[in-house]
Amino acid sequence: MTTEQTKIVLTGIKPSGELHLGNYLGAIEPALAEVTQHRGFYFIADYHALTTVRDPIRFEQQIYELAAAWLALGLNPDQVVFYRQSQVSEIFELFWILACVTPKGMLNRAHAYKAAMEQNQSLGQDVDFNVQAGLYNYPILMAADILAFDTDIVPVGQDQKQHLEMARDMANSINAIYGPVLKLPEAKIREQVKTVPGIDGQKMSKSYDNVIPIFASGKTLRKRIMSIVTDSKGLEESKDPDSCNLFAIYRYFADPEAVQATRQKYLDGGLGYGYLKQELFELLEFRFKDQRDYYYELLADKSKLDQILAQGAEEARAMAIPVLKRVRKAIGII
Ligand code: ADP
Ligand code: TRP
Repeated sequence: MTTEQTKIVLTGIKPSGELHLGNYLGAIEPALAEVTQHRGFYFIADYHALTTVRDPIRFEQQIYELAAAWLALGLNPDQVVFYRQSQVSEIFELFWILACVTPKGMLNRAHAYKAAMEQNQSLGQDVDFNVQAGLYNYPILMAADILAFDTDIVPVGQDQKQHLEMARDMANSINAIYGPVLKLPEAKIREQVKTVPGIDGQKMSKSYDNVIPIFASGKTLRKRIMSIVTDSKGLEESKDPDSCNLFAIYRYFADPEAVQATRQKYLDGGLGYGYLKQELFELLEFRFKDQRDYYYELLADKSKLDQILAQGAEEARAMAIPVLKRVRKAIGII
């Protein structure tokens, strides 16, 4: 087990679409901030993405895009273990072991599964219509991702809180049966961020087609920002910053004085949404400029990305193999 100085911080992102501001603020930025103090294990959750992605050509490309994104945003592979989930076979072995101690009832309560059932119900269909076992078992694979590395801290957005609780429950189940075998991880959710809204006000998510992509620029970025949904109050009317989607996104990127001044303008009247959208566009265009250039440079050399990820997978396996050995021994499979 690790000491105070060498805590393990681990997080994964699915290559299921364009990386967006929610991913950046909720997971990537906090994860990168941790590596000055702790040992980082950051990965591409490609087998998790298989629950939704069906186009193999697009899938392969999205994996490279996510690899380039992590690196462009500051992940240093000499400092962090950076890998693809699919290249660490121990995770899938642990998945099965965890599945054997996980009550089915726990999976019935998972938010994503419940949402799929509710959607079916509202359409008058069988609750399990088009629900694959992959979606149902998703929380177990995520627990295996985490527990296979004796992880201490998992920086994630608010939406992953339940998954972390389930991972702890699974570790507790193993430990209750076999003694102290698995380490209990802690979620680390940034209070100020929690859930970044998308352009329609729901949680920003690749699944909802409401994202502001980090690496978009120019016309594409501007178009997205101009589509942020607001109410229809006129320029001079007083507005509520706390229920405004545009303000919620703006406040993450503007400096604190500008945020304060803008808040006041909302309250006093005299602020046009179009004007603020233009300001947000300029802020984002500038904020990610260097990373955007680097991202496209990295994407142009896929064999280099392959090499970085293969090296990371080797390091990740070196960590997971002894954990699995310990688990196998505990359960009686030697
Ligand atoms: P998506 O929901 O777009 O498919 P992922 O599920 O791959 O994104 O999420 C990767 C990480 O980004 C997770 O830690 C998740 O909590 C975080 N994240 C995703 N969307 C948001 C959001 N809107 N606000 C805050 N964090 C988010
Ligand atoms: N389920 C996470 C998401 O949708 C992605 C993920 C997979 C993950 N495995 C993980 C996050 C392990 C943290 C730790 O965002």
